[in-house]
Amino acid sequence: MLDGSYADYIRIAIINNLFKKNNFKNGIDIACGEGFLLNKLNFIQSKTGIDISKEAINRAKEKYPNIKFYNGNPFLDFKIDGKFEFISCFEGIYYVPTTQERKNALKILYEMGTKKSTYAFSVVTNGSSNESDYFDKKFFLDLLSENYNVLKVVNLTGEYNLPIHLTIIQKILCIINRKFAASLFFKFMQNTQQDKRYQELFICKQK
Ligand SMILES: C[S@@+](CC[C@H](N)C(=O)[O-])C[C@H]1O[C@@H](n2cnc3c(N)ncnc32)[C@H](O)[C@@H]1O
Repeated sequence: MLDGSYADYIRIAIINNLFKKNNFKNGIDIACGEGFLLNKLNFIQSKTGIDISKEAINRAKEKYPNIKFYNGNPFLDFKIDGKFEFISCFEGIYYVPTTQERKNALKILYEMGTKKSTYAFSVVTNGSSNESDYFDKKFFLDLLSENYNVLKVVNLTGEYNLPIHLTIIQKILCIINRKFAASLFFKFMQNTQQDKRYQELFICKQK
């Protein structure tokens, strides 16, 4: 995954906007990759990231020394002490192959928080593809409902139509400054219609 693509900045703008009134004391991001997204979340004081890829974690540690990074598989044998106020897993849960293992993964994430914690999970919701067994939205909501109350679902990536003049402005701004362009256009992505959605974010609390 490219650091800092326009799609990344759009996701970051949507997530930061959703939690703009929050200030979590600590947060953990599972399947954090090289930590680009985690580093940009501006509503968490003390951050921890875990990823199964040793290379990704080594790069993350070099780039973001203020974040605690661990290499391991939290869905198998990696354990971390303490509870977190914010627990996220962006585009990580479908790497776990079976439905039962995905249920277990969601339960393990559940155990990382308390009744007061906020959970944020993003997954591809357009069903299966040739490469991966993705979720569809209803299936993922059913899976979540075993342990979580879903407070909100928002779109993170997909397609949205703009009038031609805005499309041109967006393209030009993207070349000049992707972060700024995303700060202006993220609401179009967040509100995109259901059949044009690709990755959705599920904000949850423990049941
Ligand atoms: C599509 S990337 C998402 C990275 C980042 N969360 C983001 O949204 O930009 C998926 C990440 O999940 C990690 N991953 C896959 N299975 C995992 C597991 N069992 N435990 C921790 N990380 C895992 C991969 O190494 C990869 O970095």
